[in-house]
Amino acid sequence: MAPAPVSASQSVLVPTYARAPVAFERGEGPWAITADGTRYLDFGAGIAVNALGHAHPHLVKTLTEQAGKIWHTSNLYGAPDGERLARRLCEATFAERVFFTNSGAEANECAIKMARKYHAAKGHPERFRIVTFEGAFHGRTLATIAAGGQQKYIDGFGPKVDGFDQVPFDDEKALRAAITPETAALMIEPIQGEGGLRSVPGRFLKLLRQICDENGLLLIFDEIQTGVGRTGKFFA
Ligand SMILES: Cc1ncc(COP(=O)(O)O)c(C=O)c1O
Repeated sequence: MAPAPVSASQSVLVPTYARAPVAFERGEGPWAITADGTRYLDFGAGIAVNALGHAHPHLVKTLTEQAGKIWHTSNLYGAPDGERLARRLCEATFAERVFFTNSGAEANECAIKMARKYHAAKGHPERFRIVTFEGAFHGRTLATIAAGGQQKYIDGFGPKVDGFDQVPFDDEKALRAAITPETAALMIEPIQGEGGLRSVPGRFLKLLRQICDENGLLLIFDEIQTGVGRTGKFFA
């Protein structure tokens, strides 16, 4: 007999979500399968950011080979496979350098820190503020909940991290008004994910590029949900 899913009152996992009373033991491609063999077609697809299906043989082979080779060695040493992957990413995109992180929130933390450091290194540490857009989601760390600006994620976690100014979606006037001598960057998802799958119009993205060029700002695209092929192109 397959074990029943652990009920919310019996679970010792932190109750971050109201979990559905179903638990999966394994997966095959698009199928998620419970311990008693019931198959569900997995339209959740890695909750959009991890749309790899389940147990694809190519991925299983690669991960198994790596597990038998070498594990963590830190950034203190060279990593031939990391170099190879980074080079492939540069060749497939606009990028000149790659920084690997453990999560989307950390990728955004890195982008925020880089934008601040860029201006500080040019002698303008006062330029540290980042303009973001209503409905944004950039992660669950202290800085990225402030960047996302959604009250439901901010409430109860002490003073909000300073340095984020939020403007309505697709509103040029409000955006221009929010830019001050302290602004370092604009940060946007080209298609808002948590905000309700809202596409940012192409003309507005072009306008952002122009406004950044006019004001010496950096333009940060959060493609945690839209990148790596998920819109049909490598990046949205
Ligand atoms: C647009 C966007 N940014 C950032 C994140 C945070 O990524 P992670 O959950 O890996 O920290 C997500 C996660 O869904 C996301 O959709």
